[in-house]
Amino acid sequence: MPKESFDKLAEMREKALEAGGAERKKRQHEAGKYTARERIEKLLDIGSFVEIDEFVVHRESAFGMEDNKPLGDGVITGYGTMDGRKVFIFSQDFTVWGGSLAEMYGLKICKVMDMAIETGAPVIGFNDSGGARIQEGVKSLASYCWIFRRNTLASGVIPQISAIMGPCAGGAVYSPAVTDFTLMVKGTSHMFITGPEVIKTVTGEEVTFEELGGAMTHNTTSGVASFASEDEDDCITQIKTLLSYIPSNNLEEPPRIDTGHAADDVDESIDDLVPEDPNVPYDMRDVVAKLVDNGEFFEVHEHWAKNMTTGFARFDGRSVGIVGNNPAHLAGTIDINASDKCARFVRFCDAFNIPVITFMDVPGYLPGTAQEWGGIIRHGAKILYAFAEATVPLITIITRKGYGGAYDVMSSKHIGADLVYAWPGSQIAVMGSDGAINIIFRKEIAAAKNKEKKRAELAKDYKEQFANPYIAAGLGYIDKVIYPRETRKLICNGLDLLASKRQTRPPKKHGNIPL
Ligand code: HXC
Repeated sequence: MPKESFDKLAEMREKALEAGGAERKKRQHEAGKYTARERIEKLLDIGSFVEIDEFVVHRESAFGMEDNKPLGDGVITGYGTMDGRKVFIFSQDFTVWGGSLAEMYGLKICKVMDMAIETGAPVIGFNDSGGARIQEGVKSLASYCWIFRRNTLASGVIPQISAIMGPCAGGAVYSPAVTDFTLMVKGTSHMFITGPEVIKTVTGEEVTFEELGGAMTHNTTSGVASFASEDEDDCITQIKTLLSYIPSNNLEEPPRIDTGHAADDVDESIDDLVPEDPNVPYDMRDVVAKLVDNGEFFEVHEHWAKNMTTGFARFDGRSVGIVGNNPAHLAGTIDINASDKCARFVRFCDAFNIPVITFMDVPGYLPGTAQEWGGIIRHGAKILYAFAEATVPLITIITRKGYGGAYDVMSSKHIGADLVYAWPGSQIAVMGSDGAINIIFRKEIAAAKNKEKKRAELAKDYKEQFANPYIAAGLGYIDKVIYPRETRKLICNGLDLLASKRQTRPPKKHGNIPL
């Protein structure tokens, strides 16, 4: 082989590394950001990255573009391993036309997505882009849509993770929106459909980039992002932790690891966690931390809809999805956001063979016109839909309240849970005592001389009859009433039991979840 051909290749490879040039890379660092290549290096196992399409160039001639053809066209694509597992990756390079997406650039992303779908491996995308490359016009728009289509077809087949490391604007946000998890970096990442300037022109509102679409806006208010990180290193650590709980595709089981925490190694202080007064709140995350392997709970959507807790953990080394009402916020009631949060998480777990452990303490749906007019009927129905269609192992622990429709939908026996355990102080009824007696004893209370006394007597009676787990246990709706300290062992045991669970559903094109 002629030596010149080797020299040429070396020269081309060197050139591909230049990207937008040293000055733009410097600016990237000054903005507190890594370059597209540095992100890949930090994420993947050392030396495992194989870049593909590094010599791809655009084929645009407008605006003098033919004289400027950076190798790679502004996005780095390829594959490698992360903690030994195969992953596909794309990393948008802000130093090349602000990372703007165009025809060939989009095709490069599509190529890795196709390979990921065919080989059953996750796709991780680092987003850092000014959106559609203006010079390429409709070709850029088409390219976005090729990606959206693949995102959709890959949904439920391979995990898709979007890390937002810089701007992500306009229709560009819809690729991350379809992927399973969106991570944002505080201070340096922004997502929005229309920016502050357009908003000011159209509505007169004045808003900063950070207020409009910064990491905490999307982690607390909109729920668009599932994780917020302090910096890019933190974000990369979060991606690794997240994937450690998830299988590479929908035909595989999640990885089981040796956590060193025995199933019967129990923290008995859990017996004292739920307060004696049923109206005193506690944090469901404390319950979770006392039960899961080594207390490690990786929360998803930690800052949004806090009345519903979701996240990943392990029992006896097995990966599980955790869902819980959280009485520490809004008394654990279910509202619109909590419904969306819960349903999407359960559907993710079900798609990827991750058992769901539900911790129920729910006094009902949140009352009010804002909720009713906002469509709590439509949103709340998502929870029951998600649990009813799930075929993964479902284990439910009722820690305190299970009232009304909220009891039904939160992975009750009736909606499809395989194993339901209740702690001894549980109250399972159509509603709490005050509401109930006002309805069924309205006439008696109205006729009583001392209404408060009558009400108190009736409430006491109601509680004695209904505010316990034994009616449900007597009907087999609860498999076992247990001491809290028995919970960990029974969950580990239940996961063993259900590992071979197989359920089929009637064939259909797809369901129509209320949206
Ligand atoms: C081409 C772009 C570009 C774009 C930025 N650049 N965005 N080139 N198309 N969309 C170039 C700039 O010309 C500049 O080139 C370099 O990238 C860096 O941009 P700066 O503006 O200098 O950087 P900064 O000040 O950090 O601002 C970043 C930015 C801003 C906030 C992203 O560039 C910006 O607002 N860009 C436009 C965003 C936008 O409106 N995009 C379209 C959204 S609509 P030089 O040569 O000077 O380095 C959309 C539709 C998608 O995307 C539809 C999908 C269905």
